[in-house]
Amino acid sequence: MIKNLDATPVFNKTWANCHSRVMCHQGGARSSKTYSICQYLILRAMDGENLRITIARKSYT
Ligand SMILES: Nc1ncnc2c1ncn2[C@@H]1O[C@H](COP(=O)(O)OP(=O)(O)O)[C@@H](O)[C@H]1O
Ligand SMILES: [Mg+2]
Repeated sequence: MIKNLDATPVFNKTWANCHSRVMCHQGGARSSKTYSICQYLILRAMDGENLRITIARKSYT
């Protein structure tokens, strides 16, 4: 599945760090942070693990 994923290096780094308790994505606008994190969360959700995923933000500007 991941083999055929159209991913950027941001996704690959995110995937490689899947065992980290905290990940911080820092980078320029449109550098694929959001896209890659969504790809990562979708794959984790599809994995059959019993996970609760919450997506939140501090402010809605
Ligand atoms: N893996 C990808 N495949 C195709 N398009 C992508 C991919 N990653 C990013 N993009 C494109 O780049 C745009 C900017 O990415 P985004 O994740 O919104 O950037 P950021 O969150 O870093 O500001 C997206 O709207 C999308 O069009
Ligand atoms: Mg973003």
